[in-house]
Amino acid sequence: MPEYLAVGNWKMNTTVSEAVMLASAIKENLGNSTPQGVEAVICPPFVSLVPVLDVIKDSSLKLGAQNAYSEAKGAFTGEISPNMLADICQYVLIGHSERRHIMREGYQVIGQKMKAVVAAGLRPVLCVGETLSQRKQGAAEAVVRRQIETGLVDIHSVEGLVIAYEPVWAIGTGVPATPVTVIDITGGAIRAELAKLYGEDAALEVPVLYGGSVTPENVSGFLQEPSIQGTLVGGASLNADQFTEIVRLTAEIKSGV
Ligand code: 13P
Repeated sequence: MPEYLAVGNWKMNTTVSEAVMLASAIKENLGNSTPQGVEAVICPPFVSLVPVLDVIKDSSLKLGAQNAYSEAKGAFTGEISPNMLADICQYVLIGHSERRHIMREGYQVIGQKMKAVVAAGLRPVLCVGETLSQRKQGAAEAVVRRQIETGLVDIHSVEGLVIAYEPVWAIGTGVPATPVTVIDITGGAIRAELAKLYGEDAALEVPVLYGGSVTPENVSGFLQEPSIQGTLVGGASLNADQFTEIVRLTAEIKSGV
C-alpha cells in the first residue's frame, strides 16, 4: 500500500520571520505527532528552509524544497543543488507547472533535475498536469503521460517517488477539478505510464497526489478517491489551521484515524 501525504507548497510567499511563525503554528496544531499513516510536508522558500528546520526538527513534520538545479555543484550562479538540500530536507518539488510555464523548464531539464534529486537521496515530487487548452483538445492524458515518461527517463526505480497531478487550470483559480474529472488521470494515465515503465506492482506503490485549489472544504472528495493518496496544497497551506485540517482529514479518510 502506498503511504498518504499532505504537502504544503508555500510558493514565493512568506518572509523568513513569517515562515518561522507559520511553521511554528502548524507544529503546535499537530501536537507531538502527525496523525498516523500520514506524512505532512511543508515546502517553504529556499531562504526559510534552515530557519524552518530549526522549528520543526523535533516534530514529525517533514521539510521539502520547491525546486533544485540539475548539477551537484559548480559555476551556476544563483542555483541551489540537490546535494545542498539533502542536508536540510527530505522532499523536492520538480516540474511544478509554474516552473514549466513561467520559467519555461522543458522536458529535458526536468528529467535532468529528477535524476540529480534522486542521486542526492531526496524524494522527488514530480508535478504533472495539462493546461485548459490541452484538456479542451482531448490531450490531457497524452500530455501527462509524456510528462511522466520524460521526467522519469533516468529514474530506474519507483522507490521514494511521488507524483502530483495538478491540472494547470485548477491551480490558484479557486476552481478545483472535480474528483470525477481527475480519476482518468490519477487512476488511468499516471498508473498506466508508471506500469509501462516499472511494471504493474511498482506502479501501485507510487503515491499520487492531487493539487489545484485544495481546501479543507473540498479535500474529502479527492481523498475518498482510491487512486489519490494525498494532496499538494498551495494557498490553503499558508494558513496553519487550514493545512492542519487537511492533514487531519487525510488521516481520517485514508487511514481511518
Ligand atoms: P493552489 O492550492 O493555490 O491552487 O496551488 C496549487 C499548487 O500549485 C500547489 O503546488
